[in-house]
Amino acid sequence: MTRSFTRDQVDADLVDALVGLARLAPRAGNTQGIEFLVLESSQVDDYWNTTFNEKNRDDFPWPNLFNVPVLILIWVDPKRYVERYSEGDKRRSGLGKGTSAWQTPYWWVDGGMAAMTILMGAESRGLSALFFGLFDHEQNVKAKFGVPQRFKSIGAIALGYATDEQRRSKSLDRPKRELDEVLHRGRWSS
Ligand SMILES: Cc1cc2nc3c(=O)[nH]c(=O)nc-3n(C[C@H](O)[C@H](O)[C@H](O)COP(=O)(O)O)c2cc1C
Repeated sequence: MTRSFTRDQVDADLVDALVGLARLAPRAGNTQGIEFLVLESSQVDDYWNTTFNEKNRDDFPWPNLFNVPVLILIWVDPKRYVERYSEGDKRRSGLGKGTSAWQTPYWWVDGGMAAMTILMGAESRGLSALFFGLFDHEQNVKAKFGVPQRFKSIGAIALGYATDEQRRSKSLDRPKRELDEVLHRGRWSS
């Protein structure tokens, strides 16, 4: 993840290619309930103006995040999943009853698959990216950019070119768990 960007623009065709890849990412029941809002140029400023007040911006430890030329916001439509799983070939799953019937809500899974596809596609094309959450700004962002109410936010991807200097996130001070701590072969080993 990159939190400091240059002001270099990202080619619109490149953005289309990344969203095009995400469109093909694994998706439960081929539901295709994920949609993307791309913000460029002054629309990115509109996003920061909607989510960051002046004071928070002054205190923010990654000021070069605000240089980023493109934001891709990923949205999911849970109702579409419920409708898809009400269809004949899926009816026996019982998941057409409503969102509360889903032990693993596939809209979040598909959203993560789409996000990761964009992140990997970006990296392989020499771009850098940051995935970040909308937190309590979701409603304001929806209102500002006309996102229909039925959609829920997966998060946003900031996309651009990294500066040479990067300030590390505190989260990265947490050591990565060792393979044998997370890998259970055959039976859970405490
Ligand atoms: C679901 C999710 C939410 C995240 N939210 C944020 C966020 O709001 N702000 C942020 O700076 N990084 C966020 N990150 C990035 C992580 O803190 C962390 O930097 C990243 O997963 C590590 O990637 P790296 O090892 O490639 O640097 C998020 C990552 C994920 C997967």
